[in-house]
Amino acid sequence: MSVSQEFWDKKAEGYAESPIADEESYQRKLSETQVLLTPEMNILEFGCGTGTTAIKHAPYVKDILAIDIAQNMLEIGRTRAREAGVENVVFKRSTLTDLNAKSESLDAVLGLNVMHLVPNRKETLTDVARILKPGGIFVSSTVCLGSSYLRFVKLLAPIGKLLGLMPDLFILKQSEWVKEIVDAGFTIETQWHHGKNDISVFIIARKVTM
Ligand SMILES: C[S@@+](CC[C@H](N)C(=O)[O-])C[C@H]1O[C@@H](n2cnc3c(N)ncnc32)[C@H](O)[C@@H]1O
Repeated sequence: MSVSQEFWDKKAEGYAESPIADEESYQRKLSETQVLLTPEMNILEFGCGTGTTAIKHAPYVKDILAIDIAQNMLEIGRTRAREAGVENVVFKRSTLTDLNAKSESLDAVLGLNVMHLVPNRKETLTDVARILKPGGIFVSSTVCLGSSYLRFVKLLAPIGKLLGLMPDLFILKQSEWVKEIVDAGFTIETQWHHGKNDISVFIIARKVTM
């Protein structure tokens, strides 16, 4: 088990109980995503956590595959989906890389509050572009600490990780993150930031059609 997997497994119960930090921005993200969803869509959410967002999007699409590295997060997601009567969300333990989804098979991919945690970010982004159909959408919300004074957390990260107090965490600048998305073959349709010191960046990007 990786340090991150162990970290997020331990965190699952507390994460499930904690309120959404910025409800107004969360609702805006939901509605800006849902206007793009249609009932025939197959979508994937990676780093789905306890499934809160997948369950909210479920009525708008055909099905959702929700993946995460932490089994305890997935268990909570399964219970919540069952309790909500949601039957079109399947939860599975995997990274995006290990999933090895079929090329051009998905209408939308969601990576919410996760891309700054992924060690192989560029490979993951290439995979997102590969598995989306042409014209498909990539919806992401990413913590970009690169231009904030909080970037110095980088110095504490190795110790924090060693002590099991922190997961993998990568310090990104918003401009670098946007460039990585564009370089992977997307056009940016929506981009705004929010949160303490505006460090969370919400982006809807569309895979360029050849
Ligand atoms: C901050 S939580 C976000 C959960 C959810 N997306 C949300 O917005 O509430 C990060 C989640 O990503 C998962 N995660 C971390 N690294 C991952 C990876 N490489 N692949 C898939 N999931 C990962 C963690 O287990 C955790 O559930």
